[in-house]
Amino acid sequence: MSNESTATAQNDLREFIATVEARGELARVEGAHWNRELGAVTEVLYRQKVEKAPMLLFDGIPDYPKGHRVAYGMFGSPFRLATVLGMEPSLSTHRKEMLDHFRKNIKKGFKRIAPKIVKEGPVLENVLRDGAVDLTRLPVPIHHEEDGGRYIGTACGVVTRDPESGRINVGTYRVQMIGPDTCTSYISNGKQGRIQRDKYLKAGKPCPVVIIIGCDPITYLAAGFTMPDAMPEYEWAGGLMDRPLELIEGEVTGLPFPARSEIVIEGEISATETALEGPFGEWHGYYAGDAREEPLIHIKRIYHRNQPILTCAASQKPPHSHLFERCFLRSAGLLDALEAAGIPDVRGAWLHQAGGGRTFCVLSIKQRYFGHSTQVGVVASQLASVGYISRWIVVVDDDVDPTDIHDVIWAMGTRCDPKSRTTVLDHCWSSRLDTLVRDKNMLYNSRMIIDACRPYELLDTFPKVCESSPELAAKVRAKYPELYR
Ligand SMILES: Cc1cc2nc3c(=O)[nH]c(=O)nc-3n(C[C@H](O)[C@H](O)[C@H](O)COP(=O)(O)O)c2cc1C
Repeated sequence: MSNESTATAQNDLREFIATVEARGELARVEGAHWNRELGAVTEVLYRQKVEKAPMLLFDGIPDYPKGHRVAYGMFGSPFRLATVLGMEPSLSTHRKEMLDHFRKNIKKGFKRIAPKIVKEGPVLENVLRDGAVDLTRLPVPIHHEEDGGRYIGTACGVVTRDPESGRINVGTYRVQMIGPDTCTSYISNGKQGRIQRDKYLKAGKPCPVVIIIGCDPITYLAAGFTMPDAMPEYEWAGGLMDRPLELIEGEVTGLPFPARSEIVIEGEISATETALEGPFGEWHGYYAGDAREEPLIHIKRIYHRNQPILTCAASQKPPHSHLFERCFLRSAGLLDALEAAGIPDVRGAWLHQAGGGRTFCVLSIKQRYFGHSTQVGVVASQLASVGYISRWIVVVDDDVDPTDIHDVIWAMGTRCDPKSRTTVLDHCWSSRLDTLVRDKNMLYNSRMIIDACRPYELLDTFPKVCESSPELAAKVRAKYPELYR
């Protein structure tokens, strides 16, 4: 893919969709209902095709004008993720090589380019003010059969400003429609948006907020990626694109949002009023966390393009439509964080889809010293990508491919003595979404580090692995090419 077409695909959601369609990875679906059908169509397809499923663009949604569209599965394939990261998509199908390549591209964002404030942009094609604000004009889905309501925000970006430092944060946090001009958002404890929001609410003040729900691909990628405090998402996005992201400031709050967004809502999170939020089918495959009161958001403006596209990321029992990119982004983030912590010789990492990209993490290392594997497991278990609601951290030697579950189970079954090589950490970062958290005022979990490396003291004497040498394997492949095609 040329630099020019990469830049085009990064430009906005419509140009990204055009690139995806030209590649044959877009399916247009007519007539599916916003009430439980959009999510089900997506779930059934992704369960069947996993990473080969197309991006879905729903149109002709009952009760809504033609052209009011809904999109799912934005980055669900190697091509789609590679495209938005601005890299050559035909690199490899091997996970580790892809991860190395993704890491390099993700880092481009770390050069930071400040956004540019502009006065005009397609998102201003329609501005609904005050009494004209009406979320029901948009085909907001009920994604899962047992959800507590219609969720307008799933693949979204919630924008807040720290009242002390002024830092602008963009995070993906689910947003439930409550009424035509009200909604509420669930933000887990410890997330940056939650910390910023609570500073206003604790002072008895409303928290200004902007929610981008027709997210352009770059902003969406940034919003769901755990950035260090010092890295504002909009600046990372500019770095990735190699040009400033163009932003418009909201009329009411002054909070900035991308000028080429599809739909943006702007308002205030109340310090005094709440609404019942949830339940919602979550990333681990459960309706967990029940329904709880969350601060109410009063919407003052809706900005949207003509014939807007609402972006969605409905989670279901894994694998589902937005895990592919999560696994890459979190694995890349984990490797970067380990490197920054000065931990040597970590060779690979993989957060498996079956664990919702969070609960089952595997790291491979080249063992250097006694305790190296414990060090890697313990540190990794608390770093940004893994710290929140993790459960199992497995450390393997570098002859084991962390992305290959057969390899991993083999190592666990042959190199780990459960009695002496497992470590349990208690009182770790969790949330009310955790299926095992019972007391919603005690948001801790425990996690286990499984040291599935050969014991360091036995490295020289451990039984030899029984597999063909690379030379013999290459020889038989060359001799019987038909057999191995
Ligand atoms: C599709 C999707 C949905 C998400 N939904 C939520 C959510 O409802 N609440 C939440 O706290 N985090 C949610 N997350 C995780 C956060 O977006 C993620 O941890 C992000 O890094 C948070 O940004 P922050 O570090 O700026 O708080 C979601 C992530 C994705 C990709």
